[in-house]
Amino acid sequence: MSHFMSYKGYLMTRSINKIRKRCDNMKNDEKLLLKQKSAQKALSYVKNGMVLGIGSGSTVREFIRLLAASSSLDLQSIICIPSSFDTESLLVKANLRLGRLNQFSKIDLTIDGADRVDSKLNLIKGGGGALLREKIVAAASKEVIIIVDESKLVKELAGSYPIPVEVLPLAKVFVENALQKLGGKPSLRLAANKLGATITDNGNMLLDTEFTKIPDIAKLEEEINNIPGVFENGLFSNRLVTRIIIATTTKGIIVKEK
Ligand code: 5RP
Repeated sequence: MSHFMSYKGYLMTRSINKIRKRCDNMKNDEKLLLKQKSAQKALSYVKNGMVLGIGSGSTVREFIRLLAASSSLDLQSIICIPSSFDTESLLVKANLRLGRLNQFSKIDLTIDGADRVDSKLNLIKGGGGALLREKIVAAASKEVIIIVDESKLVKELAGSYPIPVEVLPLAKVFVENALQKLGGKPSLRLAANKLGATITDNGNMLLDTEFTKIPDIAKLEEEINNIPGVFENGLFSNRLVTRIIIATTTKGIIVKEK
């Protein structure tokens, strides 16, 4: 295990703030290299004949590129279930075999990224707005591998990144009030090149909700989903995660298993 070490050990030897500072100063090509390393390691878990869930985001994009270039796998035997329109387009462009979730009772393995990861393998996802389909695909999978670079590591999810909540547009104000009652501070995610809200692949809105305290992650995940008008939220408690692959600048690849 020369360049493999425990995740906990890594968190103990390096302060998260130092890691964050280093990552903030990192150039884009250095970040890309870490994403590629994490994606490369994930590829070693893919086997011929698998039904493979494919997450969304820039790290997953690297995984798709590496999968499509693989010479050791029989790509025609692997069926890819996308978790977003963006991922579907990338899979089509890469000539990979597409499938639909409704065709299969189980997905063998899902590979996805994350916005934040804590030391117990709880996640915040949904920075790319694909959280609803991502969570369905993850929940339908026998195994879920999360691929990240070290900039995603945090000691605590609370206060580290807003939790995206996917909401039926007509229930926006009702859900905002309910999120405030749970201690959250929601703000509507705006579109980049259009007036008004970001609309998800499913025709809904996103409320990016800051929580400064999360005493029980699984409980908050459930409480948010219990609000009528909410489809899903970006808290992925560790019950959904099998393994996390973290690419680091100083310690190589860290694989953390549950
Ligand atoms: C999209 C997601 C992504 O997995 C998450 O935003 C990480 O993306 P990236 O690999 O680009 O940092 O949850 O909804």
